[in-house]
Amino acid sequence: MIDHQTVERILDAAQIVEVVSEFVSLKKAGVNYKGLCPFHADKDPSLVVSPAKGLYKCFSCGHGGNAVRFVMEHEQLSYPDALRWLAKKYHIEIQEKELSDEEKLRQSERESMFVVNEWACKYFQDVLQNNVDGRAIGMAYFRSRGFRDDIIKKFQLGYSLADKYALSKEAKKKGFEDRFLITTGLSYAKEDGTLHDRFYGRAIFPVHTISGKVVAFGGRVLDAATKGIDKKYVNSPESDIYNKSRELYGLFQAKQAIVREDRCFMVEGYTDVISMHQAGIENVVSSSGTSLTKGQIQLLHRFTNNITLLYDGDAAGIKASLRGTNMLLEEGMNIKILLLPDGDDPDSFSRKHSAKDFQEYIKEHQVDFIHFKTNLLLEEIGNDPLKKASLIKDIVESIAVIPDEITRSVYIKESARQLNTEERVLLNEIVKLRQKEKEKSANQGVAPNGNTTGMSPTTDMEQDILPEADVTPISQPNPFYKTETLIIQEIIRHGEQIVATVEDEEGNTKPISVVEFILMSLQEDGINFHTTFYNTLALEICQNVTSNKDFNVLNYLLAHPDSRYSSLASELATDKYMISKIYEKSDLNLSEEKIQDRIPHLLIDLKLAIVEKSLKETKNKLLDPSLKDKPEQYMKILKDYKELSEAKKQIAQQAGDRSVLASKRN
Ligand code: CTP
Ligand code: MN
Repeated sequence: MIDHQTVERILDAAQIVEVVSEFVSLKKAGVNYKGLCPFHADKDPSLVVSPAKGLYKCFSCGHGGNAVRFVMEHEQLSYPDALRWLAKKYHIEIQEKELSDEEKLRQSERESMFVVNEWACKYFQDVLQNNVDGRAIGMAYFRSRGFRDDIIKKFQLGYSLADKYALSKEAKKKGFEDRFLITTGLSYAKEDGTLHDRFYGRAIFPVHTISGKVVAFGGRVLDAATKGIDKKYVNSPESDIYNKSRELYGLFQAKQAIVREDRCFMVEGYTDVISMHQAGIENVVSSSGTSLTKGQIQLLHRFTNNITLLYDGDAAGIKASLRGTNMLLEEGMNIKILLLPDGDDPDSFSRKHSAKDFQEYIKEHQVDFIHFKTNLLLEEIGNDPLKKASLIKDIVESIAVIPDEITRSVYIKESARQLNTEERVLLNEIVKLRQKEKEKSANQGVAPNGNTTGMSPTTDMEQDILPEADVTPISQPNPFYKTETLIIQEIIRHGEQIVATVEDEEGNTKPISVVEFILMSLQEDGINFHTTFYNTLALEICQNVTSNKDFNVLNYLLAHPDSRYSSLASELATDKYMISKIYEKSDLNLSEEKIQDRIPHLLIDLKLAIVEKSLKETKNKLLDPSLKDKPEQYMKILKDYKELSEAKKQIAQQAGDRSVLASKRN
């Protein structure tokens, strides 16, 4: 943990122009600076940096934020790591939590292991590039696979000599201790204590952490020697620095491309990753032959929501494509599947086709996962109604784990159509499943949104349609979600900013922050957010803003221990959030007037939407023929209707021209 004061010092010290200049060359343009945006393929400089506001903003792709945000995005670091990065740049010493002696020892053991691995990685590369055998055997092998020099360097590929003692001897000569060679798995100790290399005679694929440190190696036998050897690959054992289920091969080399493309390709092996890079497709990682773990998915999720799984188009590949995917859905990933022609893996496919053809093939053949699964199973069942029921169950199970309500409802629609079933049937099944899951986690004493099940809680909308509730099912998502999200975005970006003043009873003027303004305004009209999480969030922020005048909403949320807060904040703070595109053009020059305009307009949009919905419902009630016999009830509803119409007129008046715009947009 970095203490609060240090965080403040870092934020004060970080000069946006200096920080961005580390990565982008900037030119002065009036009071601002301009440069090529590193977050998309930029031809004309569309990145604007404002030293006065301490912000950067790309007017083309929408990325924007402060210095910490820039480092987070550019270097793909977490918030605390970005702070550490800045602290280093500005020579600010960070007071982290004191380590115990045991922790210090462990820490330095880990560091020693990294040092040994770093050295070994260089050693293997040096052998490959410069040693006579390295060139004749190792390099010849990579050449025979068609790997280019630049790609060999990029992935730091190497070669371990056929001599079983070569690396161990060299390491000892350099003064490395035996025990680190053993704990990293580079060497084994024989009974007499001599060290024996693990990877001798193999082509070497180093495995990097997200920040580029070498944690492990994969060693492949050379083709000629494959026969009679049962292990095609030998890998480093798990250790203090290597947890196989938490690393993804190639992520270090892919991370920026993943963000740029907002998609990641998932392949099976080392050579698939490498060949795809060579074909110009750089947003690709591998789980190294094992099935994906939750940890790996969460790692990937920091970079994108979108994943495409690449599989061999044979029966085994297709089966594999269904396995483990619910876990991806559960983490909120949008999944596509790409089947390669039977018998090809990405490596062999890319050698048969040009880079352009490969990219085209992907574009044409990647399909949405749920759609794919439904079709696949439909083909399997033919006309058997019993099988159809179990198929529906299978599909519903996949949809039910998706945390986002809107995505779920889109899939329900789609699948209902594909399966030729009523939406309501699927929806009811899903509600049941989610309810069951909720009860299960409640029994386990875990909050419904705790991480153990991965299922987010049933939303209000779904609560409403639980079987016992006597309401017609609605399969539409919360219709106010968009506008509410835009309002929350204002809170996240500028919640602490002062936008107005009010007079209290004694005639003193009191400043009002954005978050207070929004909550007060909603309260006046007796409105809550329909998205319940937004209410909790807004209240928590409001309490902090009123009690601490130096409070910064975005920093607070980004560092929030509850990942729902931090991920929402990072999503809405950058302009990844699609509907904010409507507003983004004005964003860098956020003068106070503009916020003061925008927020009331958003609130009006929300109120109008709510009133309009009630109006529609009331109107439907009036049309109910059975009311003919109940004049009293009829009059009451009519009165409601008139009041609502009046309210709508008033809100529309407040909105002025704006209401025209709003209705056009919707
Ligand atoms: N793997 C492994 N140990 C094995 C076999 C496979 O660790 N004995 C892992 C490797 O990470 C490998 C991945 O599983 O990259 C996929 O295996 P496979 O498809 O057999 O290997 P390829 O990557 O295709 O390697 P090559 O093209 O060199 O045969
Ligand atoms: Mn292969």
